[in-house]
Amino acid sequence: MLNFNFCSPTYFAFGKNTEEEVGKLTKKFGGTKVLIHYGQGSVERSGLLNKVRKSLQQSNIDFVELGGAQPNPRASLVYEGIELCRKENVDFILGIGGGSAIDSAKAISIGVPYDGDFWEIYEKHLDVDKAIPVGTIVTLAATGSEGSLSSVITNENGWKKYGLNIEILRPVFSIMNPELTYSLPPYQTACGIVDMLSHILERYFSNTNEVDLTDRMSEAVMKSIIENALTVMNNPKDYGARANLMWAGTIAHNNILGVGKEQDWSSHRLEHELSALYDVAHGAGLAVLLPAYMKFTMPKHVMLYAQLANRVWNIDVNFENLQETASKGIAAFETFFKMIGMPTTFAELGAKEEDIPQLTAKVRIKDGGDILGVFEPLTRDDISSIFRLCL
Ligand code: NZQ
Ligand code: ZN
Repeated sequence: MLNFNFCSPTYFAFGKNTEEEVGKLTKKFGGTKVLIHYGQGSVERSGLLNKVRKSLQQSNIDFVELGGAQPNPRASLVYEGIELCRKENVDFILGIGGGSAIDSAKAISIGVPYDGDFWEIYEKHLDVDKAIPVGTIVTLAATGSEGSLSSVITNENGWKKYGLNIEILRPVFSIMNPELTYSLPPYQTACGIVDMLSHILERYFSNTNEVDLTDRMSEAVMKSIIENALTVMNNPKDYGARANLMWAGTIAHNNILGVGKEQDWSSHRLEHELSALYDVAHGAGLAVLLPAYMKFTMPKHVMLYAQLANRVWNIDVNFENLQETASKGIAAFETFFKMIGMPTTFAELGAKEEDIPQLTAKVRIKDGGDILGVFEPLTRDDISSIFRLCL
């Protein structure tokens, strides 16, 4: 196990009616003038926005509003939010909705005090240390943005989708009422399930040894996600299943399952090119990419994949042929993605074979290098092969 620092400072208020605490929590964390930032209307239709307004008013907190964050949130709205916050002297941002609204809120929060174009921070991965505090109310169990140090923004200028991971991006509080996820369309629920599984797998695929505790915790969370996913797809209003999934989404990405390990995140890098080019849902892109990435990397990591197959999918280990066991585990993920209504091929996603060279060339590699990742270092040719495995 490697040395590590772990600080997950977010205060979580979890359970039924917790959204009614938003005024009190905002006050507790120092907010006096709030920007309520949300997506394209689900929070209005569900009545959540009105509850938030009422709770802030009851706590005598002034606020302004900016809606319109779209899936794969855009830089243009971030610029608008930054201007609004500066004009209105906003000192607290509430991101309400899914990962897109929350990520957009986070981008605004670091953009306001930044003396320059906020996009530079994403492009150059600057570790800025000033931000307006962000609180969230989550309506989609998926990205874990409510507890993560990440924000992912798409810049329409060049259709670049870049993630930023810095500690200042962790929300000060997050309100999580599983009932708020009842209204999700099945497709969005499924996208969220794939995304949270992927966040665990991205950390699980590591060459670091002596991480048995983290491996076993990861396997347990994955098993729970898979079981509760099947329940929720049959009964979207099953409170227990929604609650377990919601908390799993947070745990999957606040890095408790990644400490002490070398991490890679290649599947996310490749997926971000799919959602940038075709504007597909992040989870749907991952459902196509992950099995391809696993098939490509499995031959050099057979033991780890066989362990995954056995412990998560209860597949008997064939000690004469570990590769067979490993392959069965990958097939089980693919079957599960199909069962919950996710695409597993380029065609189902609307992606095209002729775009593979463009997708491959655009994949962002740290420091402009030519090798992506450390679990299985990938050349551009390897990346192209993984995209081809998605056909
Ligand atoms: O915009 P509204 O009207 O709110 O509708 C949304 C949107 O259309 C809808 N929705 C959300 N909650 C709902 C609901 N509809 C009905 N009932 C509800 N309770 O769902 C649609 C998708 O929302 P979105 O926020 O885009 O989904 P998600 O939470 O999956 O976020 C995806 C974005 O997060 C990024 C992704 O790349 C993508 O841009 N990620 C962020 C991460 C992070 N910050 O840590 C990590 C992830 O790996 C990911 O990259
Ligand atoms: Zn993700």
